[in-house]
Amino acid sequence: MTRVLLFTGKGGVGKTTAAAATAVLAARSGLKTLVVSTDTAHSLADALGVTAAAEPSEIEPCLYLHQVDTQRSLERQWGELRDYARGVFAELGLDAVTAEEITVLPGAEEVIALLELREQAATGRWDVIVVDCAPTAETLRLLALPEALDWHVNRLLPVGRRLLRTLSPLVRRVAMVSVPDDHVVGAGERLHRALMEVRELLTGPDASVRLVLTPEAVVLAEARRTLTSLSLYGYRVDAAIANRVFPAEGADPWRERWVAAQTRHLAEVAESFAPLPVHTVPYLDAEPVGPDALARVAEAMYGRTDPFAPPGGEPPLRITAEGELLLTLPLAEKGEVDLARKGDELIVTVGPYRRVLALPAALARRGVRDAALSDGRLRVRFQSGGPDD
Ligand SMILES: Nc1ncnc2c1ncn2[C@@H]1O[C@H](COP(=O)(O)OP(=O)(O)OP(=O)(O)O)[C@@H](O)[C@H]1O
Ligand SMILES: [Mg+2]
Repeated sequence: MTRVLLFTGKGGVGKTTAAAATAVLAARSGLKTLVVSTDTAHSLADALGVTAAAEPSEIEPCLYLHQVDTQRSLERQWGELRDYARGVFAELGLDAVTAEEITVLPGAEEVIALLELREQAATGRWDVIVVDCAPTAETLRLLALPEALDWHVNRLLPVGRRLLRTLSPLVRRVAMVSVPDDHVVGAGERLHRALMEVRELLTGPDASVRLVLTPEAVVLAEARRTLTSLSLYGYRVDAAIANRVFPAEGADPWRERWVAAQTRHLAEVAESFAPLPVHTVPYLDAEPVGPDALARVAEAMYGRTDPFAPPGGEPPLRITAEGELLLTLPLAEKGEVDLARKGDELIVTVGPYRRVLALPAALARRGVRDAALSDGRLRVRFQSGGPDD
C-alpha cells in the first residue's frame, strides 16, 4: 500500500518546507518516495534546490519530484471537456482569449494535479507519496463536491443521456448553445469517477493530512477551523506541525517577547489538537534549502516518532452496528452545527462548511431520531421504521 501524506495550512507557514523535509526523510529511510506539488509556483523544486521536471524525476536515491504540468495534463486527458467549454464560451460571444482564460478555473489546476496523483498511486510504484497542498485545504474541500454530486450523477446521468439524445436538436435551437455530445458526457462521467477515486484515496486508511502552522494567534485560529472542516469532509488529520518556533536561549528583549507569546500559543496548539501530536520545528538562521538542510528539519520535526506509520484510529465517519452515525468534528461548537434531512441525504453544516452525506441503504429510509454533539463527536440516531414514523 502507498502511504499518502498531505500537507496544508495557511499561506507562508512552511507547508512546502515540511512536505519536502518529510519526503527527504522517507527517501533516506529507504522508502521509495514521490513528492508532488500542486502549486504552479515551482516552490517545491526551489526548496529541494533542483529544477522542476514534468515527469517524476529522481533527485537522490529513492526520492522523486513530480511537478504536475497542468496545461499538458488538461489537454491530454480532459481535452473533450475543454473543447466543449471553449465551444460554449465562443457561442456565448466570448472571444478566444477570454475562453482560454476561463477554461482554467480557479482550483482546476490543483484538482488536475490530484488526478495525476491518483494515477501515480495506482502504479503501485511508491511506498510514500507526499503532497504539498494549496493553502488551507481549499482543494481538499473542493473534493467533497463530487461526493455530493455522486448520488445525482449516478441516478440522473443515464436518464439525462437519453433525454439529451431526444431533445438536443430542439434544445439546440431554443437555447442557441451546444448541447454536449455523447463523448463529452462520457468525459464528464469519467472525470466524476476519477474525482471520486481521488477522494477515496485521500480519505482512505493509508492517507492523512498534516496541518502546518506557526505559533501565532491568527494562524492558530485558521488551523483550528481547518481541522474541523477536514474532519467534516472525511479526511484524517494525524499531526500538527508548529513551524518557526523561536529558540529561547540567549534571547534579547525583542526575542524574549516573541518566545513568551509563542510559548502561550504553543500551549493552546497542544490543547486544541490533543490527542494529535504537535511536532515543532525551530526558526532556523537560514532558509532550509536542499535535501541536507531539509533532512535536518525533518529530524527536528519528527524526533524519534515514525512519520510513515499508518494513521490508525477510527475514520472520521462511521456507522455502528446499531445503526448510529458517528462523525468526528473536533473543536466544533454546538451552536454552529446544523443537521438537515433531504430525501436519503443527510446534510451536516458546521459554520460555513457543509457536507452532503448520501446515507447507506439501511439508513436511507429511516428518519432522524436525535443528534448530539459531545467531545468533538456528532452522534446521529435513526428511527427504527420509515422516515414518517
Ligand atoms: N523553520 C524555518 N526556519 C527558517 N526559514 C523557514 C522555516 N520554515 C520555512 N522557512 C522559509 O520560509 C519560507 C516559506 O516557507 P514555505 O515555502 O515552506 O511556506 P509555504 O507554506 O509552502 O508557503 P506558500 O503558502 O506560499 O506555499 C521559505 O523561504 C522557507 O525556506
Ligand atoms: Mg508552498
